[in-house]
Amino acid sequence: MKNLDHRVYLDALNQINEKPYVPVWFLRQAGRYMPEYRAVRSKFSDFFEMIKQPEVCCELTMQPLDKFPLDAAITFSDILTVPEAMGLEIKFIEKRGPVFSKSIIKNGSLNLSNDGINEKLNYVYQATALIKSNINIPLIGFAGSPWTIFTYMFYGESPKDFNQINEYIKNNLDYVHQTLEQITNASVQYLKSQIKHGADCVQIFDSWGGILQDNYQEFSLQYINKIKESLPKDIPCILYSRGMTLKPYLNQTSLKCFNLDSGEKLDDYLNQNIAIQGNIDPQIFHKSENKIKNLADEIYTKYKSNNNYVCNLGSGITPDIDPNKVGLFLKRLRLLNSE
Ligand code: CP3
Repeated sequence: MKNLDHRVYLDALNQINEKPYVPVWFLRQAGRYMPEYRAVRSKFSDFFEMIKQPEVCCELTMQPLDKFPLDAAITFSDILTVPEAMGLEIKFIEKRGPVFSKSIIKNGSLNLSNDGINEKLNYVYQATALIKSNINIPLIGFAGSPWTIFTYMFYGESPKDFNQINEYIKNNLDYVHQTLEQITNASVQYLKSQIKHGADCVQIFDSWGGILQDNYQEFSLQYINKIKESLPKDIPCILYSRGMTLKPYLNQTSLKCFNLDSGEKLDDYLNQNIAIQGNIDPQIFHKSENKIKNLADEIYTKYKSNNNYVCNLGSGITPDIDPNKVGLFLKRLRLLNSE
């Protein structure tokens, strides 16, 4: 096992980064925008077949780390491993995304099971341990929020018409809460085991939290809080909630780390006794080299004295982004960090 000798990312999450150094990692830092990823991906017809091989997950996690100066690694996997382990069949279809063979919309209530869930997810823990033995920077484990997983179970694919799920949850309260509870239990086991196998911190992706708006506490945050309270106290837990303004909820959670989406005003969150990462619009990578360098300069100057700031994006890197532009930003920030 290599030493964790580059801790600046964890220090920022714990609000104790005293160095004039802005730690950085990017949402979806591994993936289709990288030719190295596409080369590995082309050897597999099925995404799950690929991620069930720990050596391949390790290789894919390392690809961006070998190429760019990053301060954290994130296990290469997916949030849909949990519903798959609960018994749902899922395929990833090019240009369409995930497609479930059954969904609540088409089939009514689903036959989900948490039996043997940790054994079924063992491939993720093996990948976690293998990655951990290959890196000296912090490793981030992750899961989807119960609400976001429920959203995929409901639509059987990425949601389009948000009214459908908002109507359904109003009229099927018992089934919805029972299912959210079941996903929560699976997610607690999932994250605890990732931590046992080497994850230094965890991120919960509430990618469809924004669908809820006024019902956010009842259907999403309540369950995220349950997960957070079940995890070891010394393990930072980061919440990413897309499309939600989180400020009104800061006093309704014991979470201390937030990945803000691009719609939020980051400066509103900096002096709240919490750690903040994220917020940069990935569209920046479609701009000129000068604009990208200027943004790195601006971020360094503005945030280098904050002990609780992590540079990251407000949503993931998309396949149309040029990896050279990503590298340009990261190399510039690293140069500034070593000043
Ligand atoms: O470096 C990394 O971040 C890679 C690991 C990672 C993946 N998915 C790999 C992946 C992570 C952290 C995720 C999280 C994830 N998965 C989220 C939350 C983050 C977010 O973007 O909001 C969500 C909503 C999913 C669900 C999911 N998985 C979708 C919608 C898709 C379709 C295509 C896409 O990229 O959005 C996937 C498949 C997937 N997961 C791919 C990758 C690289 C592409 C699949 C392929 O190569 O065929």
